[in-house]
Amino acid sequence: MRGAGQPRVDSHRVVTLGPATARPLARGAELRAALAGVPAHERDAWVDQALGLGSSPDDGPALPPGCVPYLPCAVDALLRLTEHAEVGASDVFVDIGAGAGRAAALVHLLTGASVVGLEIQPELVSAARELAARLALPRVSFVEGDAPRLTGALAAGSVFFLYCPFSGMRLAQLLANLERVAGARDIRVACLDLPLPPCSWLEPVPARWPDLVLYRSTLTRKQRPENFVELNGIEPSASSMPLRRSPS
Ligand SMILES: C[S@@+](CC[C@H](N)C(=O)[O-])C[C@H]1O[C@@H](n2cnc3c(N)ncnc32)[C@H](O)[C@@H]1O
Repeated sequence: MRGAGQPRVDSHRVVTLGPATARPLARGAELRAALAGVPAHERDAWVDQALGLGSSPDDGPALPPGCVPYLPCAVDALLRLTEHAEVGASDVFVDIGAGAGRAAALVHLLTGASVVGLEIQPELVSAARELAARLALPRVSFVEGDAPRLTGALAAGSVFFLYCPFSGMRLAQLLANLERVAGARDIRVACLDLPLPPCSWLEPVPARWPDLVLYRSTLTRKQRPENFVELNGIEPSASSMPLRRSPS
């Protein structure tokens, strides 16, 4: 089981993040400031305690060969990512391989973005949904399935997060689907510990970290035909710009 062996944290310094106790929900700048006050090596345990997280389910047979088991991403990486990608309340943040929902919940609390977690392991999806329900986060939801195939959920996103869930053909299929989304509106793709194959439609945003790379899509409005209406069956997200239509 995961989650054991975390460093001890001073409980008096933990800000309650959910309605499990009477203390108010810490969000946005207040939560970021609280985390900044916690020594870096204690932040993960601090968040686990604040979210009331214990150990998460073991990986099961639903994890296909070649796909990466659940390992929660470090809080430090999520702080860097959300700031660098300028994730905000109008975004739809899609966690590709969401595990037990820890990153999804924390990103929502930090940024106010709607979050959709895609996860192939049913036990982890259940744990993630329980977490969102316990913390009363109605804008954090989870979809069970093989992420590259979940085109409806992908179509809703504006920021996509990949903490190395898979590589090879699955990653290629995912990127092909994201390219279709990027044909409808600009998106950002953030990869942690995951080198992407060359993608002509993605441009890295310079940063000083070797582990976290943020890309912006380059299929901009200027490059599209004047009367661009092709949605590829994709619904725009809350943050998308209105698309031009042909005069009738
Ligand atoms: C390294 S963990 C990342 C967890 C989470 N994103 C985080 O940052 O805390 C990778 C996750 O991807 C999930 N996963 C692997 N292959 C997948 C697939 N084809 N579709 C959906 N989820 C997948 C795994 O079950 C695991 O939970």
